[in-house]
Amino acid sequence: MHIQGPFELILFGGLGDLALRKLIPALLCLHRDQRLPEGTIYVLTRQALSREEFLDRISQALSAHVSDFSDHDRTFLSRLCCCVVDVTQPESYHDLAKQLNAACQNRVYYFATGSSLYLPICQGLQQANLISAQCFVVLEKPIGHDLLSATAINKGVAEFFNERQIYRIDHYLGKETVQNLLVLRFANSLFEHQWNHKYIDHIQITIAESLGVEQRAGFYESVGALRDMLQNHLLQLLCITAMEPPASLDPDAVRDEKVKVLRALKPIVGDAIGANVVQGQYDAGVSNGEPVVRYRDEPGVDEQSLTETFVALKLEIENWRWAGVPFYLRTGKRLARRTCEIVVHFKQVPHSIFPLQHKSTMANKLIFRLQPDDGVHLMLCEKRVGPGMNVRPMSLSLNPTTVKPVRVPEAYERLLYDVLSANPTLFLRHDELLEAWRWVDPILTQWQQQEQRPEPYTSGSWGPSAATLLLAKDGRLWDENS
Ligand code: BG6
Repeated sequence: MHIQGPFELILFGGLGDLALRKLIPALLCLHRDQRLPEGTIYVLTRQALSREEFLDRISQALSAHVSDFSDHDRTFLSRLCCCVVDVTQPESYHDLAKQLNAACQNRVYYFATGSSLYLPICQGLQQANLISAQCFVVLEKPIGHDLLSATAINKGVAEFFNERQIYRIDHYLGKETVQNLLVLRFANSLFEHQWNHKYIDHIQITIAESLGVEQRAGFYESVGALRDMLQNHLLQLLCITAMEPPASLDPDAVRDEKVKVLRALKPIVGDAIGANVVQGQYDAGVSNGEPVVRYRDEPGVDEQSLTETFVALKLEIENWRWAGVPFYLRTGKRLARRTCEIVVHFKQVPHSIFPLQHKSTMANKLIFRLQPDDGVHLMLCEKRVGPGMNVRPMSLSLNPTTVKPVRVPEAYERLLYDVLSANPTLFLRHDELLEAWRWVDPILTQWQQQEQRPEPYTSGSWGPSAATLLLAKDGRLWDENS
């Protein structure tokens, strides 16, 4: 089912960082591809701007984030409408109602604000009579800051919208290679037999950013890497990697399997937290060839901040498929380079007849690369040409753009289109969100109670030494070192 007829997109937090960097650029790309149905995009902001000032702000953002932004895109700009709204003021919603088209009931409300505002916004919309059965609502992550607050938001939003209308977005699920992972796993019989504890030694999932906190200290200081990246993006990548084959691509079939993975996560509690979870905070250093300041010296950051900008952990999934297979997850800001990879490390052959092979480089690996470019690489062994029987690693690569150069759509393009197509497969269901919080909650609670300072790491490195030790204890290395 698609939205039929004209629609209205109402973007709360419309001139915020996310909207300017990702959402409005994604809408422009959909518009260019003629995949954005007819309708108006209302950009909500607290600042009163003239039409000219508003279009200047939007044009600057689009020039920075969309290639070839030009005069040809004027038709898109004409679809944008700036509305001044203070979401904490009930009368603002009545003013908003006057600007919307009363005849149009196909509305998508996109909440790109802090999640503490989600309920006041729902109440405001309801009081202004702006919610009907034809509306959808998109909720940005992180939803809540712990299990309790996420539960309250889930319950609160459910009083205004039913589950069919709620789209909890995690943009990592919109990335091309994540969907390719589903296809590679479930459209090929080759991997399924190997996809378990008998053949897989361990799996590493890394989301590394070279950027620091940028202008987002106001948001990030109370959030940190665990809530910003691990509770959602990393656990979602884990679910797609580890879930059982769903019976179909039906939204609930996929989400049922993801929930089962989250429920099977071995709890990390008490002393296990110190042994299995590492937190870090970036110090000064060099990033992309430029000197950069430490996190505590970034604008808007408390000089004594205990906010973690890095987290790494080892987890286990307690089920038949994965018993005994460690999963190592990590993410951080100001790391050596921007990269995102899921790396499946297969076990070594049980007995090697090639005595010269270097063991750690010879085990097969299947690498799903999401960033900086999309691709899948299978690391195999082959004979080095020439005398003797020397073995060397080689890579078989599948890259979506090598056969025919195509533009890989941004994650938000795919997901916004899915909202407009009423397809929630790649969005989180209410129980999935809560299971993820349930699992990370004990870690957050212990960190808060013990007020531990995250271990400092040099900007431009791969994170604190404790993260290296986490794998070294198991006789393993992170991928950049192996
Ligand atoms: C967002 C986080 O969800 O993801 C940001 O809030 C992070 O802190 C961003 O920088 C990373 O997304 P991407 O797609 O650029 O890897």
